[in-house]
Amino acid sequence: MMVLQLVDLSEKSPLPEEALRFVSSEKRKRLFHMVREEDKKRGLVGELLIRQAAGRRLEVPLQEVPIRRTRYGKPYIPGAGDFHVNISHSGCFVALAVGSRPIGVDVERMAEIDLKVAARFFTPQEYAYILSFADTRRRLRAFYTLWTLKESYIKAVGKGLSIPLNSFGFRLDDDIRLERGPDREGYRFHTQHLVGGEEYWLSLCYREEGEWRIRRMTEREFYNGLGIL
Ligand code: COA
Ligand code: MG
Repeated sequence: MMVLQLVDLSEKSPLPEEALRFVSSEKRKRLFHMVREEDKKRGLVGELLIRQAAGRRLEVPLQEVPIRRTRYGKPYIPGAGDFHVNISHSGCFVALAVGSRPIGVDVERMAEIDLKVAARFFTPQEYAYILSFADTRRRLRAFYTLWTLKESYIKAVGKGLSIPLNSFGFRLDDDIRLERGPDREGYRFHTQHLVGGEEYWLSLCYREEGEWRIRRMTEREFYNGLGIL
């Protein structure tokens, strides 16, 4: 069973200072240097989500969860066995995906984009797919579907943007097919629209069979669950 946990930060409450003691000193430093309050809140919730899930797995308190990063920056939990996590944050959402095999998640707020600028991220087939919709709203959805799918895949693989975004492509018919790309066998995808004040798109990339359990909560519910608020 894979789990997608979504925390909705749209309540505009202040960052709970007492939560800072559960994260690493490195993270605290990074949060301290962030200018925007929303960035701090997203960064804090992201790490706490990983600590909460991994803490349950390892049966240790939040602050004792060891979090490392690969040389490409992907967080992982040493000693947790078949336990993989990935997070994404955008706008008012922080998303955590957990599974027993490498996993990737990407959520993006659907800001207006200049399709011409975006063209360089996509394969010619993907770009043609986006342009096949006459309606601007549907084009935007097609754009974010492909964008988040691409991100979810490079995040599952874990090599970041060392895999050029236009070096692999998706075909979207009834199902989602990855047509090129390194080591692409066995990857599966899920993509969906998400509403939280504004419109968002979310994609998941995973390698195991089975169902997703999707849990969505407010910031208050999340912190309550940690015993903080
Ligand atoms: N693999 C998987 N996950 C990674 C990662 C990697 N190599 N490096 C970092 N992450 C995780 C981290 O947990 C990070 O959050 P944290 O720093 O708070 O811990 C999280 O991914 C960030 O994900 P997200 O919120 O979705 O940010 P992003 O979409 O801006 O970036 C990257 C994701 C870093 C993996 C990278 O793909 C990137 O820079 N992408 C943006 C580039 C772009 O222009 N995309 C256009 C697509 S068409
Ligand atoms: Mg992203």
